[in-house]
Amino acid sequence: MPYEHEFIRDLNRDEPLLEIKDLHVSFGDRQILRGVDLKLMPAETVVILGGSGCGKSTMLSALIGAVTPQSGEIRLFGRNVDDLKEVEYDEYRTKLGILFQHGALFNSMSIFENLAFVLREHTVLDEEEIAIVVRMKLEMVGMRHAENLMPSEISGGMRKRAALARALCLDPMIMLYDEPGAGLDPVTLAGVDRCITTLGKVLNMASLVVTHRIKSALTIADRMIFLHDGRVLAEGTPVEIAEHEDPRIQQFLEGRADGPLTERGVNDDYVDALLGQGDRA
Ligand SMILES: Nc1ncnc2c1ncn2[C@@H]1O[C@H](COP(=O)(O)OP(=O)(O)OP(=O)(O)O)[C@@H](O)[C@H]1O
Ligand SMILES: [Mg+2]
Repeated sequence: MPYEHEFIRDLNRDEPLLEIKDLHVSFGDRQILRGVDLKLMPAETVVILGGSGCGKSTMLSALIGAVTPQSGEIRLFGRNVDDLKEVEYDEYRTKLGILFQHGALFNSMSIFENLAFVLREHTVLDEEEIAIVVRMKLEMVGMRHAENLMPSEISGGMRKRAALARALCLDPMIMLYDEPGAGLDPVTLAGVDRCITTLGKVLNMASLVVTHRIKSALTIADRMIFLHDGRVLAEGTPVEIAEHEDPRIQQFLEGRADGPLTERGVNDDYVDALLGQGDRA
């Protein structure tokens, strides 16, 4: 059955909304992603796990066009993004929402104005309609009571939810979340997790969630992907990942400081350098 949206009418509902094939990204001579493959199906929640600095945020940046890959393919709603004309890309891009890792709200605007701004920029709605949409989106994340507050007047968890409401303004079909739980206490985090899961179901939205919080990941994921060394080391359901035999994944899940992920071996150069006997010896 085709979608009602004009721009993805060629896509079947059993095809991935988003597909990454053999994606390579480098910064200078540092290779960050070395051939990542990933599929996101309609209404699916996929969680990306992986150590700090392994390239999770970089992958999301490549998806929204903020970083240019060296090679590989990104297919969004069935089309290769490289083949899209600028106008088409802008339209596709509005259907891809993102909740950034660091900050997101405009600090000089109230919560209401933060959302209204997006709608004024990207839609032809009048002010009355904008007010209705803003309140609907705030209600979805339980933040309607805070519409007149400034970002500095609300807690971190509330800011996350307000930023989420803003990302929902243009009715995305895919939401990208970068560390939605960062800086939140376990109870607030559970609230944000529930928001992510409920929104996915109610709005039939696919979600790609980057997180370090294992409990949260196991709760919200339909499927999980473990990135390591710029590649997908493992992929599976939460149960499959939790029971995965790779010791690197087990170390990560258990949060152990020592193990194969952190083994560096004896480094004689380091000792020599400390003792001033390196090259000068
Ligand atoms: N714009 C950039 N220019 C140069 N190097 C960058 C840039 N963005 C990221 N990097 C480097 O790429 C690597 C991956 O960064 P990235 O932010 O994607 O990691 P991450 O997996 O999201 O980590 P974290 O879990 O800490 O958020 C890091 O070593 C980082 O220093
Ligand atoms: Mg990151």
